[in-house]
Amino acid sequence: MQWPPAVAIRDVGPRDGLQNEEPVPVAARVRLIDALSGTGLRRIEAVSFVRAEAIPPMAGSDEVMAAIARRPGVVYSALVPNTKGAERALAAGADEIELVVSASETHNRKNVRRSVAESLISAGELVDLAHGASVPVEAIVSTAFGCPYEGDVAPERVAQLAGHLLDAGCDRLSFGDTTGMASPRRVHDLLDALERAGLTADRVGLHFHDTRGTALANVLAGLERGVTYYDASIGGLGGCPYAPGASGNAVTEDLVHMLTDMGIETGIDLDAMLDCARLAREIVGRDLPSALLHAGPRSRRYDA
Ligand code: COA
Ligand code: ZN
Repeated sequence: MQWPPAVAIRDVGPRDGLQNEEPVPVAARVRLIDALSGTGLRRIEAVSFVRAEAIPPMAGSDEVMAAIARRPGVVYSALVPNTKGAERALAAGADEIELVVSASETHNRKNVRRSVAESLISAGELVDLAHGASVPVEAIVSTAFGCPYEGDVAPERVAQLAGHLLDAGCDRLSFGDTTGMASPRRVHDLLDALERAGLTADRVGLHFHDTRGTALANVLAGLERGVTYYDASIGGLGGCPYAPGASGNAVTEDLVHMLTDMGIETGIDLDAMLDCARLAREIVGRDLPSALLHAGPRSRRYDA
């Protein structure tokens, strides 16, 4: 089997993870981001700029961005739902903006209180704003593998939305399995549809949640197709406030462990990542789904 020689992982724990926990202080969010930037990660989804009333744990994201120790070579991105969020992200010095749009109408309305068409209309304006500040925009297509309200989402529909987002000027696209409804077959089906629409693997990122235990299997499907951008979350923090039953993302340290053993370069120091997972556990004050935190790396030897 041919796998890519190297992949880029973005840790989304400080945003996707912490948004679904009881709010933690700004200082703890900063500590987690700064610990993550010391692991060799090149991309961190640090914050979101959304209404504090909608997502209380993301209040104070401006302060978080101002307080982190920027490590050269690390891209600190911010998720936004609209132009107002993009303005705030630019003012805070985000290196990259992630515009979130759902592939299903119901989830988009619940998440950002507007139709998919309305989100698309403002996407062009948002991209112009970001590009004017030389900041790239990644579109995050949520519910790309299924919607908790509408069920299956046709890959062709996702591909069509992807085309519109590219037409609006988005630089990259990432496809989110918001509530863990994907399986390797669905990953292949979506990548087939994207290919037919002219979107090649090098512009695609994949974002899996492990709600039904398929996250790493789905990554493997992506690797088979040459996709090299994956989101994962430290310790497996995460969920979605507008998706009942959603749980955390693919676990960053579990993913790094698997990829390293497959000979795929991530640039990430696993021990440093495990320290971050312990920190994440301490910050949220509960056990986390990380397999590595419980079992340790495969190189660990038991005393006889
Ligand atoms: N950040 C902060 N405030 C915002 C904002 C943003 N990105 N977007 C709008 N607002 C403010 C407006 O300025 C307005 O303030 P005012 O009442 O003081 O004038 C108020 O919110 C209402 O504006 P409106 O455009 O009607 O927003 P809304 O109430 O329909 O909420 C969203 C829409 C998108 C802002 C809100 O649903 C949201 O923040 N969703 C985020 C969802 C999310 O993060 N999901 C998880 C990640 S996928
Ligand atoms: Zn997510």
